[in-house]
Amino acid sequence: MSIAIFASGSGTNFESIVNQSRKDNWPQSVSLLLTDREGAKVLDRADRLDVPHYLVSPKSFPNKEAYESAILEVLEEKKIEWIILAGYMRLIGPTLLHRFKGRIVNIHPSLLPAFVGKNAIEQAFAYPVKVSGVTVHFVDEGMDTGPIIAQVPVAIEENDTLMTYTKKIQAVEHSLYPEVIKQLVTGRI
Ligand code: GAR
Repeated sequence: MSIAIFASGSGTNFESIVNQSRKDNWPQSVSLLLTDREGAKVLDRADRLDVPHYLVSPKSFPNKEAYESAILEVLEEKKIEWIILAGYMRLIGPTLLHRFKGRIVNIHPSLLPAFVGKNAIEQAFAYPVKVSGVTVHFVDEGMDTGPIIAQVPVAIEENDTLMTYTKKIQAVEHSLYPEVIKQLVTGRI
């Protein structure tokens, strides 16, 4: 049994999870990366880290059900137990939700339920709030909804720019997400 990571973009969280899982010798390893986006930078990281990767393009399917059924085939063949969303910018549909009930997790760069959707760091910075942060949660049918597992606040300081604040959020993500996943796969959550 093992872990699949879904990502659409750069993949810094993917990389931190893979590195931590190897360092700590998790009982379940990251055995595949799935992306919906051709040319996503995360594919280069998967190559470098020697993690098998699959590009499943939604454009090649008539609807979401067919798209997710194709993904499901790959996941079943690989005996995947957990789906970890790491910057996967697509809602999970009933096909995957039903098969992986309670075993799909997401990370979001805000203190949910504030600032859902895309560009959450920019949204918080532009508001402007004094504190935003990072949330890890179980996935349901909504956008960035579902039971919250962990949250870490990150203050926006007077002298922060969007870039410095983004770096602070990323640093929290890269330590929090592997820790939460480790607790999930070892049955402590
Ligand atoms: C992360 O900040 C993650 O929290 C966010 O996408 C980024 C992916 O970065 N996810 C969402 O906004 C989900 N709604 P990465 O590709 O470098 O890991």
